[in-house]
Amino acid sequence: MGDLYIFSCICLLGLFLFQGNATLLEDKQALLDFINNIRHSRPLNWNSTSPVCNNWTGLTCNADGSRIIAVRLPGIGLTGPIPANTISRLSGLQILSLRSNSISGHFPADFSNLRNLSFLYLQYNNFSGPLPIDFSVWKNLTIVNLSNNRFNGSIPSSMSNLTHLEAFNLANNSLSGEIPDLNLPSLQQINLSNNNLSGSVPQSLLRFPSSAFGGNNISFGSTSNQTSPYVNPHSGPYLTPKKSGRLGETALLGIIIAACILGIVAFASLMIVCCSRRKSEDVYSGKLQKGEMSPEKVVSRSQDANNRLFFFEGCNYTFDLEDLLRASAEVLGKGTFGISYKAVLEDATTVVVKRLKEVGAGKRDFEQQMEVVGSIRHPNVVELKAYYYSKDERLMVYDYYSQGSVSSMLHGKRGEDRTPLDWDARMKIAIGAARGIARIHMENGGKFVHGNIKSSNIFVNSQQYGCVSDIGLSTIMSTLAPPISRAAGYRAPEVTDTRKAMQPSDVYSFGVFLLELLTRKSPIHATGGDEVVHLVRWVHSVVREEWTAEVFDIELMRVPNIEEEMVEMLQIAMTCVVRMPEQRPKMPELVKMIEDVRRIDSQNRSPTGNRSEISTPPITVIGRESQVSE
Ligand SMILES: *[C@@H]1O[C@H](CO)[C@@H](O)[C@H](O)[C@H]1NC(C)=O
Ligand SMILES: *[C@@H]1O[C@H](CO)[C@@H](O)[C@H](O)[C@H]1NC(C)=O
Ligand SMILES: *[C@@H]1O[C@H](CO)[C@@H](O)[C@H](O)[C@H]1NC(C)=O
Ligand SMILES: *[C@@H]1O[C@H](CO)[C@@H](O)[C@H](O)[C@H]1NC(C)=O
Ligand SMILES: *[C@@H]1O[C@H](CO)[C@@H](O)[C@H](O)[C@H]1NC(C)=O
Ligand SMILES: *[C@@H]1O[C@H](CO)[C@@H](O)[C@H](O)[C@H]1NC(C)=O
Ligand SMILES: *[C@@H]1O[C@H](CO)[C@@H](O)[C@H](O)[C@H]1NC(C)=O
Ligand SMILES: *[C@@H]1O[C@H](CO)[C@@H](O)[C@H](O)[C@H]1NC(C)=O
Ligand SMILES: *[C@@H]1O[C@H](CO)[C@@H](O)[C@H](O)[C@H]1NC(C)=O
Ligand SMILES: *[C@@H]1O[C@H](CO)[C@@H](O)[C@H](O)[C@H]1NC(C)=O
Ligand SMILES: *[C@@H]1O[C@H](CO)[C@@H](O)[C@H](O)[C@H]1NC(C)=O
Ligand SMILES: *[C@@H]1O[C@H](CO)[C@@H](O)[C@H](O)[C@H]1NC(C)=O
Repeated sequence: MGDLYIFSCICLLGLFLFQGNATLLEDKQALLDFINNIRHSRPLNWNSTSPVCNNWTGLTCNADGSRIIAVRLPGIGLTGPIPANTISRLSGLQILSLRSNSISGHFPADFSNLRNLSFLYLQYNNFSGPLPIDFSVWKNLTIVNLSNNRFNGSIPSSMSNLTHLEAFNLANNSLSGEIPDLNLPSLQQINLSNNNLSGSVPQSLLRFPSSAFGGNNISFGSTSNQTSPYVNPHSGPYLTPKKSGRLGETALLGIIIAACILGIVAFASLMIVCCSRRKSEDVYSGKLQKGEMSPEKVVSRSQDANNRLFFFEGCNYTFDLEDLLRASAEVLGKGTFGISYKAVLEDATTVVVKRLKEVGAGKRDFEQQMEVVGSIRHPNVVELKAYYYSKDERLMVYDYYSQGSVSSMLHGKRGEDRTPLDWDARMKIAIGAARGIARIHMENGGKFVHGNIKSSNIFVNSQQYGCVSDIGLSTIMSTLAPPISRAAGYRAPEVTDTRKAMQPSDVYSFGVFLLELLTRKSPIHATGGDEVVHLVRWVHSVVREEWTAEVFDIELMRVPNIEEEMVEMLQIAMTCVVRMPEQRPKMPELVKMIEDVRRIDSQNRSPTGNRSEISTPPITVIGRESQVSE
């Protein structure tokens, strides 16, 4: 009896759980039906075996995890019509964003099932045909953006039933007919520009700026539907002729001012057109000379690129350029090649956006380099998630590392901001960075160069190991660091002469980075007076005078029993910064050398760790017996 009771309880419980989850399972199936029936150029991690909530890209569940309430798939490369009876089954959906794709076909009729829909973003697609006749089915519709599609037909009068509507964008479509009288007090934004609308702006919408109606065949303000021959349909309501025959003085003054402003605007536009033309010629002149692109193509390409971030495979982000530009941004730092920002997107995703300065390379070289960089997937290499290239903007998008760069860890402000890095932490950073650089050097048939290794480009991954960023920019950028900047302190002597970074010069920079980890001194720093000191020279001079212990960071000296390892690391660093490039070790050797330093005192010492394999570093200056001061 007892068994049976327990059994039926379990059954009931199971049934209950199943019912609680049933709607979510239905939603999941609807999403799978959607994604399996539409082409998309970027892969999604929508795996039927994994849970939907908090796992599938672009989805948001409600608080109890029983329904999907938001689908955000901007810029996924969705192509073709939305398969019928898929999205429409997500009856709890409140937010739908499919913008910046290439979705075609009519507005899906079955969306009328999405009764809770409040935010609809379908802009920048290829939708065509009429708008839905009955908007009143979406009682809660708050923001509707259908701009930049090919919708035609007229604006349905049922929109006047949308009492919650706050913003409404139909710009850049092919809508015709007259604008219905949308008497919606909640409406705060509207844009109907660049359609084929006619008639006049209804009274209820006259409170919006005339630019909201530009690019149509519309007249303003007057009750007559006749366009006045004196009125430029795009210039706004303030120029509509007054009913009275005589113009008041104020009106006259107004017209004079308006004329002046128009003149200034016209002149300014002329200037802008001229300037921007010259600018685009500058940017593209190289290409044009080679005859690769006609001016027309240049224009269409740059427009095409307007809203397209290029994402790398496996990247789970769902945002587009528009989001990125709208995101709240905070300057993280100014680097050799540009400014880095921390950008927090609407959905709380945080990324680092690097905005590049003058790029020497053309678009194709840039893209090729990005392809190489974006293909590197390694725990010690900061992944490039996406990039963007247009004639006046080059952006790179990376993951955000909340702990900041190793530079800020070492040299950042004291106090709450900075937790001192102990020796263990520094060793993990060194090992990680070495592995990352070794991995980078394998690319391009073993010839790939990082070109800008420095502590502000090294971060710490979730396992607290070093992680290398800013890869491969030196070859596409036209700038070299100015000679007195901190960045110049990492530069190998031969780079200063040849202006060309090679793998041995990466090794040199890495050596400087190791010295920085050991000494917590900047590669170029001032001592007391105005004198500028190069870290490498300084370490050399201290070591030569056999004051080796003076080299190390005081913070490290407080810890007993690590000086052996520190001295070994110093030796390794010194082999990296020797003057002759061919005498420097290769990155894979360095990885082994550093890993072996760690094994000395470690309890889980690897039995196979055979130290005799490693060539002894060719410096003997440092006495192992050197005294370590208290
Ligand atoms: C889905 O995930 C399972 C394991 O979680 C994996 O074996 C399978 O390959 C994945 N399928 C796809 C299509 O990624
Ligand atoms: C999603 O779930 C799969 C399997 O359950 C897991 O391997 C993967 O890490 C999860 N992804 C995210 C982003 O949580
Ligand atoms: C629509 O939203 C309301 C309130 O948020 C909720 O009570 C209702 O269950 C939702 N409808 C569906 C079909 O999810
Ligand atoms: C509409 O939204 C409000 C709050 O935004 C909510 O309380 C209400 O249940 C929603 N109604 C429907 C039909 O979704
Ligand atoms: C839009 O759809 C039309 C056919 O309906 C097609 O010819 C055109 O190439 C599409 N445009 C884009 C940008 O996808
Ligand atoms: C909308 O465009 C289609 C072709 O794309 C055309 O057949 C139809 O007549 C147009 N409708 C209106 C109202 O212009
Ligand atoms: C507004 O909605 C009501 C009922 O939902 C409907 O009868 C009416 O026709 C709608 N108004 C317009 C202009 O569509
Ligand atoms: C709609 O999309 C356009 C183009 O992307 C954008 O400029 C506008 O801000 C959006 N409007 C609303 C109300 O979201
Ligand atoms: C309409 O298209 C033009 C040109 O492509 C663009 O400049 C403008 O921002 C678009 N308008 C909206 C509201 O997206
Ligand atoms: C705009 O509408 C008029 C009729 O109102 C029509 O004759 C014309 O062909 C339309 N133009 C476009 C580009 O659709
Ligand atoms: C509407 O969009 C056009 C571009 O299509 C833009 O020039 C205009 O400023 C916008 N007006 C409003 C009120 O948003
Ligand atoms: C537009 O004007 C014509 C005559 O000019 C008139 O017959 C027609 O009723 C007017 N339409 C509206 C909507 O006012």
